[in-house]
Amino acid sequence: APQVVSTIAEWRALQARGVVPRGALGFVPTMGALHEGHLSLVRLARERHERVAVSIFVNPKQFAAHEDLGKYPRTFEADLEALSRAGGVDFVFAPRAEEMYPRGPRGARLAPFVDLEGADVVGEGAARPGFFRGVATVVTKLLNITQPRAMYLGQKDGMQCIVLQRLVRDLDFDVEVVVGPTVRAPDGLALSSRNVYLSAEERAAAPAVYAALTAVADAYAQGERSAARLRARAAAVIGAQPLMALDYLSLASMQDGQELEGLLGGSTGGEDAAGVLAAIAVRLGNTRLIDNVVLA
Ligand code: PAJ
Repeated sequence: APQVVSTIAEWRALQARGVVPRGALGFVPTMGALHEGHLSLVRLARERHERVAVSIFVNPKQFAAHEDLGKYPRTFEADLEALSRAGGVDFVFAPRAEEMYPRGPRGARLAPFVDLEGADVVGEGAARPGFFRGVATVVTKLLNITQPRAMYLGQKDGMQCIVLQRLVRDLDFDVEVVVGPTVRAPDGLALSSRNVYLSAEERAAAPAVYAALTAVADAYAQGERSAARLRARAAAVIGAQPLMALDYLSLASMQDGQELEGLLGGSTGGEDAAGVLAAIAVRLGNTRLIDNVVLA
């Protein structure tokens, strides 16, 4: 079973004793409620590193006041069992919120945060202002604490990958970023900790999210380059679902997360060799589902 570390001081002490290696860990940051998507990243990390660490921390700074921080699934014992069963995880860093953000109600005073200019303009950033600031801040802290060789992220959160790759590159973190593929249920639904919120009826409708992306990818493969028409493809699939409302279908450059308009790859588009991230967010009852595919 992995060794559980809940304070920064304890982590540093383990580093000082050489139990936790500096600059040699494979690191998988998570918010717990672990599923096969998370475990696939653990397996990737295990292939390339002798020591692997997983963090489990539901980061309050990436939830807006109206969001689901209070009811976000917390399944710590089951998570530890899943990691033990998966094998190859040496350390679990699981701090309390007060450990990561110890300053209490006056914490905003002089509090540093990490922000990426423009991260709140498109897709998930526009839908959840302040979200990527919360993610970038906590990942900065987690990287400074754990000091890994490589960090493993899931393509499931496509814009998060783009944002964190930029963070690491532009702020000179000495860490490699590895992105693993999205793990899906057999019917196409991307695995997510939030899928437990879905009623049976909602779960039955949920595969339409990936179906909408597949429709976009098929149209793109057949030569469709109009951003508006590609968005309309997704809107039609979601529109046919009575329980669903389309939040956005974003077509963004994988290079810098910029929303692409007009013709992709054309004079008004900014498509580049890095590809286009077709990202979707859908409301299904009280649950928000996100997914994406890369158009290449
Ligand atoms: P969380 O949603 O727990 O996801 C942790 C990691 O697992 C992320 O890199 C995410 O992209 C990946 N992941 C989730 N579902 C996946 C799936 N179906 N297939 C492949 N990978 C999947 O993302 C976060 O936590 C947080 O924002 C975090 C980065 C930990 C910062 O708080």
